Amino acid sequence: MATSSHALLFSFFLCSALLSFASYEAEARRCISVSSILSKDLFDSMFLHKDDSACPAKDFFTYNSFIQASKCFPKFGTTGSLATRKREIAAFLAQISHETTGGWATAPDGPYAWGLCFKEEVSPQSNYCDSTNTQWPCYPGKSYKGRGPIQLSWNYNYGPAGKALGFDGLRNPEIVSNNSVVAFKTALWFWMTEQKPKPSCHNVMVGRYTPTEADVKANRTAGFGLLTNIINGGLECGIPNDSRVNDRIGFFKRYASLFHVNTGPNLDCENQKSFN
Ligand SMILES: *[C@@H]1O[C@H](CO)[C@@H](O)[C@H](O)[C@H]1NC(C)=O
Ligand SMILES: *[C@@H]1O[C@H](CO)[C@@H](O)[C@H](O)[C@H]1NC(C)=O
Ligand SMILES: *[C@@H]1O[C@H](CO)[C@@H](O)[C@H](O)[C@H]1NC(C)=O
Repeated sequence: MATSSHALLFSFFLCSALLSFASYEAEARRCISVSSILSKDLFDSMFLHKDDSACPAKDFFTYNSFIQASKCFPKFGTTGSLATRKREIAAFLAQISHETTGGWATAPDGPYAWGLCFKEEVSPQSNYCDSTNTQWPCYPGKSYKGRGPIQLSWNYNYGPAGKALGFDGLRNPEIVSNNSVVAFKTALWFWMTEQKPKPSCHNVMVGRYTPTEADVKANRTAGFGLLTNIINGGLECGIPNDSRVNDRIGFFKRYASLFHVNTGPNLDCENQKSFN
């Protein structure tokens, strides 16, 4: 008893900015965890090349740091039926794989074996500072370029992600590519957090998305394609046969197959309008 309550307390401090103590107790009672359906072997079979010397993120994105980060989001991969839980994790891993891919059409083991190869944007076009945003003002000289598994970008994402996770996203954005647990937490934060008018990716994958009238008109039906719309719809959705969208789908099909779960419908977003 003493040991487990110390462990609980320790976890509590690690994630204190995010979670109430009560939700930890709930998690402990349920005893469902991401690691119970995603073993290290399965993870390694998905990311066959992430630690190749050709990959700039070599040795950065470890299984343990993903599992540790997921503990701060006790509903991730633990909500719904076994198939729903597997499909959510597969979809998350697929989306972060596209964001960090080192794959190409004829790559060894195929293009979808190269997720988590990059940890930060290599040739950013700008510092991704939206200076009109006064709530999350840019700090002089800092770059809010894509970093981490979801390639967190812009001051208006670094600010709130840091606030939720307990780091100074505006003054210390580099931590997202320097600390792999923080890196995975930013991706999970993005996944779990509703940013209106978009639903959270989590709610889409666990059947808790209720389309508004505007969503219905825009064909934004639940499925993997809607996640792509949430993440980068302004650039990728509403376009027939977009190669970036197809790359995301390719990762998802491969991971769903490794999980022995179907992908569900609406993989694409070519018939969807993007959010605002
Ligand atoms: C990691 O942090 C160090 C300082 O601790 C900094 O000099 C370096 O630029 C950072 N690296 C990345 C990739 O952000
Ligand atoms: C919705 O999808 C249908 C095809 O399924 C398409 O004809 C229509 O243009 C789409 N609507 C919007 C707003 O994109
Ligand atoms: C989609 O694009 C790929 C090339 O990126 C092409 O090989 C394929 O034939 C296209 N599919 C359709 C249905 O247009």
